[in-house]
Amino acid sequence: MITIIGTGRVGSTLASQLAAEELDDITLIDIVKGLPQGEALDIGHMATQYAADVDLVGSNDYQALAGSDIVILVAGLARRPDMTRMDLLNKNTGIIKQVAEQIKQHAPNSKVMMITNPMDVMTYVALKVTGFPTNRVFGMGGMLDSSRYRNLLAKTLGVSYSSVNGMVIGEHGESMTPLASRTSINGIPLKELLGEEKTKEAVEKTRKIAAEVIALKGATFYAPAQGVVKMVESIVKDKRCVYPVCTYLNGQYGVSDVCIGVPVVLGKNGIERIIEVPLEDSEKEYFMKGVQSIKAAISSIQI
Ligand code: NAI
Repeated sequence: MITIIGTGRVGSTLASQLAAEELDDITLIDIVKGLPQGEALDIGHMATQYAADVDLVGSNDYQALAGSDIVILVAGLARRPDMTRMDLLNKNTGIIKQVAEQIKQHAPNSKVMMITNPMDVMTYVALKVTGFPTNRVFGMGGMLDSSRYRNLLAKTLGVSYSSVNGMVIGEHGESMTPLASRTSINGIPLKELLGEEKTKEAVEKTRKIAAEVIALKGATFYAPAQGVVKMVESIVKDKRCVYPVCTYLNGQYGVSDVCIGVPVVLGKNGIERIIEVPLEDSEKEYFMKGVQSIKAAISSIQI
């Protein structure tokens, strides 16, 4: 069973995309009375039309977590223009601490996937509060950033999305690190096709596109939801896909005691393996900026 906690824009979109894939039964939990129950009915009716035999249940009670294999945490606030980053950090830390306690109590064997922002910091909070092993607590951000990066490159080069292979690692935020040195167009190194300058431009544009989407429509939910679906599929089917995932580092990439996006093998146990690749100087600079900013946020909150 897959449980989604928080059935707002991202949570409900995710539930509908997951149901269509028929990966497992789905439980929806939210604090708003009626909302998860209503979403469960509506998405169930959609699944019927897909002939996807998935049971959906909605609840306002955390006891519904019992029996979850994967718990996806998307409860909490999205940043509004009137909020500082610090406001968001403090409010969502409170929510994630409370929800993580419930997961520990009702679904002690589950894998926990964090979506709530600031995602890297919230992953760390959930890891510490649950006390689960590090392979079972991780976060989604790099999948979304990578989809934006690949979309941009495919359009710039006039090629199919499917021919662009590349990842964005690091902080899910301003210091995200597109791995241009490791990006290829079906094996052909990106820089050979695009050149040094245009590659740099694409990397810069990738860092800015999230803010553009938020400015235009106030939120983003289709693309993040699909990133989660891909990760869930790799776990449920034990596909062992190599994806950029936020995970706890203990010496890898020269850093410790922080959760941040790196390439991992994702399978039935969650994080099966962390893959270390050498970074170019500019990539290392951004990656380390991300580490510093996540560590500063962690040290400013009470866990
Ligand atoms: P939303 O406001 O539409 O939905 C949040 C839901 O969480 C609401 O339905 C609310 O009632 C619920 N909630 C609040 N406290 C709760 C609790 N204690 N237990 C259960 N449910 C609770 O927000 P939206 O747009 O769905 O975003 C949710 C989070 O996801 C935000 O923090 C946002 O920044 C983050 N996000 C992360 C992305 C990523 O790539 N990691 C991408 C997009 C959004």
